[in-house]
Amino acid sequence: MLEVEVAGIKMKNPLMLASGILDLTKESMEKFGDAGAVVTKSVGMEERKGYKNPVFCEVEYGILNAIGLANPGIDEYLKEIDGIKVENLIGSIFGKDENEFGHLARKFAPYVKAIEMNMSCPHAKKVGAEYPTEEIKGAVESAKKAGKPVFVKLGMENILERAENAIEGGADAIVAINSVKAMAINVEVAMPVLGNKIGGYSGRAIKPIGVRCVYELASNFDLPIIGVGGISKAEDVIEYMMAGAKAVQIGTAVCYEGEKIFGKICHDLEIWLDKHGYTNINDVVGIALKK
Ligand SMILES: Cc1cc2nc3c(=O)[nH]c(=O)nc-3n(C[C@H](O)[C@H](O)[C@H](O)COP(=O)(O)O)c2cc1C
Repeated sequence: MLEVEVAGIKMKNPLMLASGILDLTKESMEKFGDAGAVVTKSVGMEERKGYKNPVFCEVEYGILNAIGLANPGIDEYLKEIDGIKVENLIGSIFGKDENEFGHLARKFAPYVKAIEMNMSCPHAKKVGAEYPTEEIKGAVESAKKAGKPVFVKLGMENILERAENAIEGGADAIVAINSVKAMAINVEVAMPVLGNKIGGYSGRAIKPIGVRCVYELASNFDLPIIGVGGISKAEDVIEYMMAGAKAVQIGTAVCYEGEKIFGKICHDLEIWLDKHGYTNINDVVGIALKK
């Protein structure tokens, strides 16, 4: 009832662990056995320490983070995940140009089912959301040479134009959205809360933005869309899928509820589908586009 297929990858359910959440170690990723797929932390060429503290804070309706793409670099990360027992592991990468994306995709390829190119971190300048739109096509072509399906993760800004470039480069799926560029100020001390000042806002508040992006992508392009942003319950998954998503990712809600959220949402999805007369979750994909 819940099985889906994205770019040739069969998943037992449409729920994926989003990049950046409990995915730096083999042990933490192996806890997500109930998820249809697990996306790794975004990994780059070299070790990155990330920004100074605080890198994380809770705000109304969600969280702000500016971790700064902290990661051990591809070579160390591959040692960490060697032998990992995860059915569908997706390798997330970020880079400053097409050579870096090509190199990282080739390195990751033997370990993963697909590559996810993170081109949307809201606080990482050129290796994030400021990656030039006109260079996306070349970067995707370069990553594709590794021989794995390539997902391109985009943020809310200028998403249709950036998706078009990714598709021209051969993207197999678009992942939308990343956290939304945002900040908070502590009024008692009159200073920004995050060490990096600017960060990304995620959690329930951004769900309508993510749904809008997925809806627009699905209305304009014919390739699988993976929805992400603010999902915390079965109805949120259905909403994204009705907007055109073939699968979804969950991040912030895992910070609140732990890995058990995947099993719980699957259980609730089956009840929802049954109650509404569906025998297959794929039947809800894109139905809101026709209305
Ligand atoms: C603490 C934290 C770290 C994140 N790190 C990454 C990352 O390394 N790569 C990436 O593509 N997205 C990263 N994200 C963004 C999430 O994958 C996701 O796109 C975003 O949080 C929206 O989904 P959510 O509302 O379910 O959290 C991170 C999000 C959070 C909260």
